[in-house]
Amino acid sequence: MQVTFLGHAGMYIETQHGSVLCDPFFNPAYFGSWFPFPANDQLDVEPFVNPDFLYLSHTHLDHFDEKFLRDRVSKSARVLLPDHPLGLVEKELRKLGFTEFIQTKNAVPVDIDGLKVMITALISPADGPLGDSGLCLDDGNVRIFNQNDSRPVEFEALTEFGPYDVHFLQYSGAIWYPMVYRFSQKMKDALSSKKRTTQMERAIRYAKQIGAPHIVPSAGPPCFLDDDLWYLNDFDRDPTNIFPDASVFLEMVETAGFTQGHMMIPGSVMQIGKGTATVTQPIPDDELAAIFTDKRSHLEAYKQRQQATLAAEKASWPSGQVEIFPALKEWFEPVLELADQTAVGIDDSLLLDLGTGGQIVIDFVNRTVTEWDGDSPTRFKFVIPRELVEYCIINHEEDWVNHIFLSCRFEAERRGPYNEFLYSFFKCLSAERIEYAEGFYAERDVSNQFFECEGYKVQRRCPHLKADLTRFGEVEDGILTCTLHGWQFELATGKCLTSDDRKLFSQKLDEAEASTPSKEVIASD
Ligand code: FES
Repeated sequence: MQVTFLGHAGMYIETQHGSVLCDPFFNPAYFGSWFPFPANDQLDVEPFVNPDFLYLSHTHLDHFDEKFLRDRVSKSARVLLPDHPLGLVEKELRKLGFTEFIQTKNAVPVDIDGLKVMITALISPADGPLGDSGLCLDDGNVRIFNQNDSRPVEFEALTEFGPYDVHFLQYSGAIWYPMVYRFSQKMKDALSSKKRTTQMERAIRYAKQIGAPHIVPSAGPPCFLDDDLWYLNDFDRDPTNIFPDASVFLEMVETAGFTQGHMMIPGSVMQIGKGTATVTQPIPDDELAAIFTDKRSHLEAYKQRQQATLAAEKASWPSGQVEIFPALKEWFEPVLELADQTAVGIDDSLLLDLGTGGQIVIDFVNRTVTEWDGDSPTRFKFVIPRELVEYCIINHEEDWVNHIFLSCRFEAERRGPYNEFLYSFFKCLSAERIEYAEGFYAERDVSNQFFECEGYKVQRRCPHLKADLTRFGEVEDGILTCTLHGWQFELATGKCLTSDDRKLFSQKLDEAEASTPSKEVIASD
């Protein structure tokens, strides 16, 4: 097996049973904030754009480079799909012209023309854009695990698929926290130092658990070429920077007792044999070392080459084209209406300060969007350039984490600790997405998992994508229809009339138990 590293989480894997292109990332992501590091803008991509298989671990924009996929990658590639209930990878790829899909099942190996493939899928609201994944490959001779930035939990299945020869994994930060927060510098430094260490320690734990003899750091960190974000780069191994590079992590790998950590930069080629891995670098060793020891020069030159791209990106941002307050009110209030558990989890208000775009309050207690009165306190505050919000409104971006927040082009304030529900809300700006997240939260609460429906005790969350059936369920002639996507279930048997592999829990109540009205939530047994 041979792996050519393409930058960030991008790699081109050649096996005797076909080639796999993984997560190519060549165009800047998140409003021109993230660029692959080390630079891959001078790599000749031609040898990599006609793969037999394409694998996109998830739809975060540094893994899902829409422009590259649309303009460069052959549409005859067969796509290896992770088992993500919302199917976002497939939906987005179909829009770009891909038509060949191989749907895998979570942590279940499948043989495709002699290539053994297993994809571990992460599906909670906290995982990436409502889904992340890792790819295991076995060509009959060697096995690799491309974990990228996922946090797998299926260790039994992973162990069974192994043992692995090479493990590719993320070790660096890929988030806006704590940099965008208006904390004191002292507090920010303390939080950042802790984050820098804990994220690398977590990667080491994964490496130990997987047990591959060869480790390759991948999937970041990005670099930041815009002057506004230049300060985010870890130029000099700053212990308070959350974006340490591969050279830092490889030292930690060695300290942890691994003898075979490998540096791969765009264009590096790894030949993998049974228990062996040798890397051929695309440039002389001293030039490669200088990328890390004199990162400033590398990034200055990269920045010069990307000036036109950055200028075009900024020029494309809309400004003054949208009446923001009415647009957000019309969009968000129906979502808030569905966000029972999310609203309880946030239990306060958020002020969106959009400068000339207005000051808007999202009240999660009353489930309203209003203009700020200039005085009332809120527990959370985001200061966001209006252009970014206008972009999201015009393009109806239902996941602001995957656009605004990961761009780091905003500031945040909060009273109290991190609130998972708040960021999940901004990943879920549609009925389908918020219902999916709500279903997850509801499953944590065993007292609220059933409801009474036409004399039956019925599971409250739709077996399709977890919509709340007390809201979306309609019954006619003994058939319960979930109106979110139209799936139907027979109340008497629980049989799903739309898909063979799902069933609804439905149990006839005796007369004494049954009550009216018919959509009453009942306690779990
Ligand atoms: S959630 Fe899709 S039909 Fe119910």
